[in-house]
Amino acid sequence: MTMPLSRRHFLQAAGAGAAVWVPAPVKGYSGAEMSAFAAQAGPALSSLGVSVRDLDTPALVVDLDALDANLATMQRTMERNGIGSRPHAKTHKCPAIARRQLETGSVGICVAKVSEAEALFEHGIDRLLMTTSNVTPFKIRRAMHLRKWCPAFVQATDTAANARDLSEAAEAAGVVADVVVDVDPGGHRTGITPGEPALALAQLVDRLPGLRLRGILCYDGGSQHVTGFEARQAQTLDRLAAAADTCERMVRSGLSTEIFSGGGTGTYNIDHQTPGFTDVQVGSYVFMDAQYLGIGGADDPEVYRDFQPALTILTTVLNAQYEGRATTDAGAKACTINRPWSIVKGEQGMSYTSGSDEFGSIRYGDDASRTYAVGDKLELIVSHCDPVVNLYDRMYAVRGGIVEAVWEIAARGRST
Ligand SMILES: Cc1ncc(COP(=O)(O)O)c(C=O)c1O
Repeated sequence: MTMPLSRRHFLQAAGAGAAVWVPAPVKGYSGAEMSAFAAQAGPALSSLGVSVRDLDTPALVVDLDALDANLATMQRTMERNGIGSRPHAKTHKCPAIARRQLETGSVGICVAKVSEAEALFEHGIDRLLMTTSNVTPFKIRRAMHLRKWCPAFVQATDTAANARDLSEAAEAAGVVADVVVDVDPGGHRTGITPGEPALALAQLVDRLPGLRLRGILCYDGGSQHVTGFEARQAQTLDRLAAAADTCERMVRSGLSTEIFSGGGTGTYNIDHQTPGFTDVQVGSYVFMDAQYLGIGGADDPEVYRDFQPALTILTTVLNAQYEGRATTDAGAKACTINRPWSIVKGEQGMSYTSGSDEFGSIRYGDDASRTYAVGDKLELIVSHCDPVVNLYDRMYAVRGGIVEAVWEIAARGRST
C-alpha cells in the first residue's frame, strides 16, 4: 500500500537527519553495560556522550524532546478543557515515565493489572487507579495488601458479587478499599450496564463496610481509533452519554462522583464535553505509534499530528545483497506483528515487515531515498506501542542522538 503524500512528508520531517548511520568505529554497548553506566553516572550519563548508534540492537529508544512535547501538549489541553489526565501505565510500564507524568501535572496513574500496580508502587508511584476488576481470590488479596501500604490505590468493580468479595477481603485485611464502578460504554468488554444497574451497584459499594465509593470509570476503547475527528467525536459523545446520565443519577442519590475517568489518546480533546467527566486515561499519547498516526486529527484528516512519534526500535541491517530489499535484526520478537507495520523513520519509499520471528524486511519502492549496507542502523516508528514496550527490559532515553538515561521497564511482563 502506498502511503499518502502528506503522511509520508510528515514522517520524513519527524525523522529528519536521524535515518541512517555508516558503521564508523562504533563501540557497541550491550543493555547490561548501559544499565551499569547509568547506575554509576546517574544524571551525568549524557556527559559520557554515548551515541544512540553505539547501542546494540534491537533496542528500544525514546526521544526525550518528543516525549516532553507530548506531555506538554496533554497538560496544555487539560488546562484549557478544565479536566485532568490520569495516564495509563499499561503503555509504558515504566516508573521514570510515570514520575514525569505526575511531575508535569497528571492527577494520578492508571494500571491494568495488580502486578503492574505493585511494580510501580515498589518504585515510588502511589497515586494508582486500577482500571480492570480483580476477580480471583489471589488477586483480590494482593490488591488489598497493596491498599494497606498504598492509601491512594483505587480499584474497579463491575458486579455486585465482586463488590461483596472486595468488601469482605478489605475487612479481612483491615482496610477500607477505594472503589470505582466500571460502566460499559456499549462495547460489552467490561463494565456494568449504565443507568439503573450501575446506580444499584454504586449504592451497594457505598453501603458495603469494607469499601468507599469514589465514582465511575467508562473507557470507550471502540472509539479511540475511529478515523476522522468528526466521526470520532460524534461516536464518543454518543457512547459516553449513558455514563454521564449514570453519573447524574449518582449525584442526585448523594453518591460520590469525585472520579469519572475514561477516554484515551484518540478522544483526549473530546471527552471533556461529557458532563461530569473528570479525567482522561490516556496511554499511547506519550509515545504515539503507527496505528494512531493513521486516524487523523482535528487539523489534518490524514495524519494525527497532535503528538509526536517518540518511541522507536533501533535495528541493524544484516543482509543487503539482494536487489530491492534488505534484512534487519528486528522481526516479530522485537516489533510484534501488529498492523500497520512499523514505519522506517525519516525515509520515504520503504516498507517494513516484521512477520518473521528474528528478521525484519525492508523493501525499496521506486521512490526510495537510499539503500542500506550491512551494519547500517535505522529506526522504526513502532506499530502499536503497548505490546512493543512489553518486549524490552529497558528503554534508552535519548536527546539529540545522545543517551541521557536508561529507564527500566519495571512492569514489563507483569500481566497478572
Ligand atoms: C482501560 C483503558 N484505559 C485507557 C487506555 C489508553 O488508551 P490509549 O492508549 O488509546 O490512550 C486503555 C488502552 O487500551 C485502556 O484499556
